[in-house]
Amino acid sequence: MATKEQADALVLFGATGDLAHKKIFDALYGNAKRGRLKVPVIGVAADDWTVDQLRDRAREGIDTFGGGVHDEGAFATLAGALSYIGGDYRDPATFTRLAQALNDAGARRPAFYLAIPPSMFEMVVQALQAAQIAEGARVIIEKPFGIDLASAQELNRVLHSAFPESSIYRIDHYLGKEPIQNLLYFRFANSFLEPIWNRNYVDCIQVTMAENFGVQGRGRFYEEVGTLRDVVQNHLLQTVSLLAMEAPNGPSAESLRNEKAQVLEAMLPLRREDFVRGQFDGYRQEDGVAPDSDVETFAAVKLHIDSWRWAGVPFFIRAGKNLPVSATEVRAELKPPPKNVFGDQALAGSNYLRFRLGPDVVSLALGIRVKHPGETFAGESEELYVMEKTTEDLTAYERLLGDAIAGEALLFAREDEVEAAWQVVDPVLRDHDPAIPYAPGTWGPAEADALMPEGHSWHEPAP
Ligand code: BG6
Repeated sequence: MATKEQADALVLFGATGDLAHKKIFDALYGNAKRGRLKVPVIGVAADDWTVDQLRDRAREGIDTFGGGVHDEGAFATLAGALSYIGGDYRDPATFTRLAQALNDAGARRPAFYLAIPPSMFEMVVQALQAAQIAEGARVIIEKPFGIDLASAQELNRVLHSAFPESSIYRIDHYLGKEPIQNLLYFRFANSFLEPIWNRNYVDCIQVTMAENFGVQGRGRFYEEVGTLRDVVQNHLLQTVSLLAMEAPNGPSAESLRNEKAQVLEAMLPLRREDFVRGQFDGYRQEDGVAPDSDVETFAAVKLHIDSWRWAGVPFFIRAGKNLPVSATEVRAELKPPPKNVFGDQALAGSNYLRFRLGPDVVSLALGIRVKHPGETFAGESEELYVMEKTTEDLTAYERLLGDAIAGEALLFAREDEVEAAWQVVDPVLRDHDPAIPYAPGTWGPAEADALMPEGHSWHEPAP
C-alpha cells in the first residue's frame, strides 16, 4: 500500500539538465505559489555550479518554458528552498555529501527525482543504497519507462533493488491533466452511462492525439522512440485504460490501479496488420535524424480488449506529428438503431460521445440525430455540448510533483500497468511495415483508413 506520508526533502538529480529547466522548476514554483512547497530542494548534478547559478537557471526556465515569474514571494520560497551539490554520480563522495545534507536538513523520507537518462538509474540507485539513504525514501521517474517490455522489466528490477513498488512514482504527465481526470470522474460519477458503455451499444472507440508541429529540434530523441513508444504505449494506452476499466472499489490509488492494470492486461498484443506507420516528409532532414530513417512520426492502431465488456469492440488510436491541428479527442460511437425506420442515410456513427482532452479545454459533446423541420421525416446530425470548461492553471507537472511529495500515488503508473502496456505494443516494435511518407499538414498516410471497418472513418478533431 502507498504510504501517503509527506516526503521531507526533494533531491533533484539532473538539476542542471533539460527536464529540470523546462518543467520541474516551473512545477516547483507553481507549488510554491499554492503554499505547497514546504520541503528543502537539493539539486544534484555533475556541473560545478553555485546555488545562485541554479536559482538563475530556475528563474530563466520558468520565464521561458512556464508562465513566467509573476509572484516574487513564491519565487523567493523556491530560491530559499534550493541548495546544490555538484559532483560525479560515479564518485561515492557525491552521495556522502548528499547524505550529510539530508541529515543536516533532518530529512528521513526524501524523494529522489531522477531527472537523468535511464542509463544512469542503476548507478544512482546503487549509490543511494551504498550511502544508506534509500531506505524510507521514494523515487520519482519520468517516461520512457524502458524502450520495450524486456527493458521495462529490467528497469523495474533496478528500481526494486532499492525501493518497494509503493515508493516508486512513475510520471506519465497525461495522468496529471484535468481532462483525463474528468474522464475517470465522468465515467463513475454518472449512472446513465453504464448501461450503454459496453459491447452491446458501443460500436467503436477512437482516440486521436494530433499535433500540428514536428519534432521541434528533438530529432535525436525521436529517432530512439517513434510515435508508438513516445505517446501510444504510455499516454494513449493510459487514456484507453480509463475509458475501458471496470469501476474501482473506491478512490484509493490501489483500487484504481488494480482496475487499470486488469484492463491493460486484457488488451491483445498488436499484430503487424493492426499498425499503420507514417513519416512526415522532411523528417529525415531534421537534425539528428538518419537520412534513411524509418522511424514513425505517425501511428494508427486497431486495438482489441479481450474482456467481457469490450470483446469485439475495436479501439482505434491515432497519433502524429505535423498533422493539421493540435487536439486530443476521444470519440465513442454507438451502434445505429436496430431498424432504420426512416430510411436515413447517415445513421451510422451519428450517435456518439466526444471528449475533448486537449489542448486547454475540457469538453464533452453528444452526437444525435434530429428531424429536419418540414414535411418529410428527414433528419440531420447535431452535436449537443454537454459542457465546456477551460482547465485550471494547475499544470500536470505541478500537480504530479506535489502529489509525489505528498505521497499520493493515484496518478502514477504502477509496474504492472507499465509492463502490460508494453506487452500490447511489444510485438510490433520490430515486426512492422515500413513507415509511409505523408505530407505535413495532412492526416497521415491514407493507409490508416484501411484499419477502419466498412462505413466508418477516422474522426477529425476541429482545431
Ligand atoms: C510527450 C512526448 O510525452 O508528450 C511529446 O514526448 C509530446 O512528443 C508530448 O509532444 C505531448 O504532451 P502535451 O501535454 O503537450 O499534450
